[in-house]
Amino acid sequence: MKVFVIGIAGGVGRRLAKALIAQGHQANGPVRRPEQIAALARNGVPSFQGDFLAMSTEEIAQAMSGSDAIVFTAGAGGKGGMAATTAIDGAGPGKLARAAGQAGIKRFVLVSVFPEAWRERHINENFEHYMAQKKRAEIDLVNSDLDWVILRPSALTNEPGTGLVDLGLAQIHNEIARDDVAATIVELLETPKIGRIILEVTGGGTAIGVAVDALARSAAKA
Ligand SMILES: NC(=O)c1ccc[n+]([C@@H]2O[C@H](COP(=O)([O-])OP(=O)(O)OC[C@H]3O[C@@H](n4cnc5c(N)ncnc54)[C@H](OP(=O)(O)O)[C@@H]3O)[C@@H](O)[C@H]2O)c1
Repeated sequence: MKVFVIGIAGGVGRRLAKALIAQGHQANGPVRRPEQIAALARNGVPSFQGDFLAMSTEEIAQAMSGSDAIVFTAGAGGKGGMAATTAIDGAGPGKLARAAGQAGIKRFVLVSVFPEAWRERHINENFEHYMAQKKRAEIDLVNSDLDWVILRPSALTNEPGTGLVDLGLAQIHNEIARDDVAATIVELLETPKIGRIILEVTGGGTAIGVAVDALARSAAKA
């Protein structure tokens, strides 16, 4: 499978690309800084210089052409203020979904966020804005005719993956290793029965393959 990864140099993105390649798939995607191309290449991951904000929808469609699936795991990461969050986290997935439509690619995985993340804490207005933009992106994808999966991970860590998650329609917000988010996305991509569904994932107690198989069985029943 050829997967076009938006955010391929990011924490989840580079782990995902590495995991895909390790499983015999292909990955590629745009990076904003040239040094990121060399860093990814050292791990056997191809990429090219590109900023999806600067690229037209047609240019993105051309760049992703021939891919079997798109994964959007980019984010402003709190840099560039609210305007960057609006453009990247909010408007980005919709733009990529339109490009996927033009390129004839149906499968689209969006990495989103738990809506109630940190609701028990004091949340500043930048974080509220981020949450609202992530929701806007989910709505754009849900309203598309793509074969989408929205995956909401809990708070991300750089701890080594455990291979164990809790995955389903609703989970308690906790923490999950970026490695485990990447591994969950690979399993979801390899399980085409699972589509047009919003899933929450957090570090947990079920092997990722078993958790995805269980979902595929319940999708088959629906
Ligand atoms: N952090 C959390 O706890 C948490 C929790 C739940 C969900 N999430 C979501 O999970 C996803 C992955 O998070 P992460 O921490 O792995 O992300 P990350 O390390 O911040 O990586 C995001 C990547 O997106 C790239 N990017 C942003 N705008 C771009 C553009 N216009 N063109 C090309 N690339 C662009 C960034 O490029 P640069 O390297 O040039 O900046 C960066 O490499 C994000 O969508 C995030 O919102 C995060």
